[in-house]
Amino acid sequence: MIPYGRQSISDADVEAVLAALRSDWLTQGPAVPAFEAAVAARCGAAYAVAVSNATAALHLACLALDLGPGDLVWTTPNTFVASANCARYCGADVDFVDIDPATLNLSVTALAEKFARAEAAGRLPKILIPVHFSGQPADLAEIADLARRHGCRVIEDASHAIGATYRDEPVGSGRYSDITVFSFHPVKIVTTGEGGMALTNDPELARRLARLRSHGITREAEEMDEASHGPWYYQQTELGYNYRLTDLQAALGLSQLRRLDEFLAARRRLADRYDRELACLPVRRLARRDDRQSAWHLYPVQVAAPRRQALFTQLREHGIGVQVHYIPVHLQPYYRRLGFAAGDFPAAEAYYAGAVSLPLYPDLDPAAQDKVVAALKDALR
Ligand SMILES: Cc1ncc(COP(=O)(O)O)c(C=O)c1O
Repeated sequence: MIPYGRQSISDADVEAVLAALRSDWLTQGPAVPAFEAAVAARCGAAYAVAVSNATAALHLACLALDLGPGDLVWTTPNTFVASANCARYCGADVDFVDIDPATLNLSVTALAEKFARAEAAGRLPKILIPVHFSGQPADLAEIADLARRHGCRVIEDASHAIGATYRDEPVGSGRYSDITVFSFHPVKIVTTGEGGMALTNDPELARRLARLRSHGITREAEEMDEASHGPWYYQQTELGYNYRLTDLQAALGLSQLRRLDEFLAARRRLADRYDRELACLPVRRLARRDDRQSAWHLYPVQVAAPRRQALFTQLREHGIGVQVHYIPVHLQPYYRRLGFAAGDFPAAEAYYAGAVSLPLYPDLDPAAQDKVVAALKDALR
């Protein structure tokens, strides 16, 4: 089976993990801050906090921005459930903003309309979580502008998008948001097995994220409410979690990060090739935008809804591990029980009805890609 996504692990990656395994540190040690510094430098952010996965990073990002019961978070329905669940972990309510059918990212038009309605109704969101779907940055400048005008904070869910650029700056620079979150799950651009990171330019947010990652415990005298008892002393100042990344994972992450440009080039080459090969087929491809470059985590296409089921089955039968990204989050039973229903976000639902993600990963060789294209052509004949 040609999978839809797959990690690329080199001998150097293996050596890096072995070196960490032979070192004094298995849990969070020197490799974690080194990995954080490397990602922050690559993205042009002042601070980075590595955590156990992007779901944890989103949770801590919401907590660091003081999200709590009674607050409201908006995100896109065309995402993985974690983009919305992070708000629920904090006891906050979730609502969604429909997508732009061309880019499949959050629609700025829908967002502006929703802000106007929310302002009139007196219930504005505290946090907006745009997702850079498939690796292509959302309309960050317009989103940031609308959010700022409505007193709303922004967390970029950039789980798909490390290495992507927007207006010549890396995603993660923090120009348009308070916190940016990356995922290092194996199908993503760079992997640490499980892993995630939260980037920010705000020193207070960075301190809070780091403290919440480790049980809400501090060893900093200025964060304590009494004089230190001695060098052993720590205080738990708030309720935190154990969301730490291990040094084994960070060592892999550091090694993978050195290969980021190689990964991006391979993914872009494959995406360009799909674009060319599929141009004559009855599939809708993602619209590209001139002012940004995708990291190409996914290669989603859309076929006429009645054809999707048979197409998916036929491709799987041919050993092509297609997937569907995403089942709109508001249609999940958990969210339906919170009051959402079919028809609430028609653009996300229409896209889902015809959605298929084709295999895309750095080690997908041209012959395997040819097989995918041939099977797709055959299925759509
Ligand atoms: C958009 C998005 N957000 C968040 C996550 C959660 O990432 P993780 O698996 O690292 O917790 C994912 C993972 O698939 C994702 O695709």
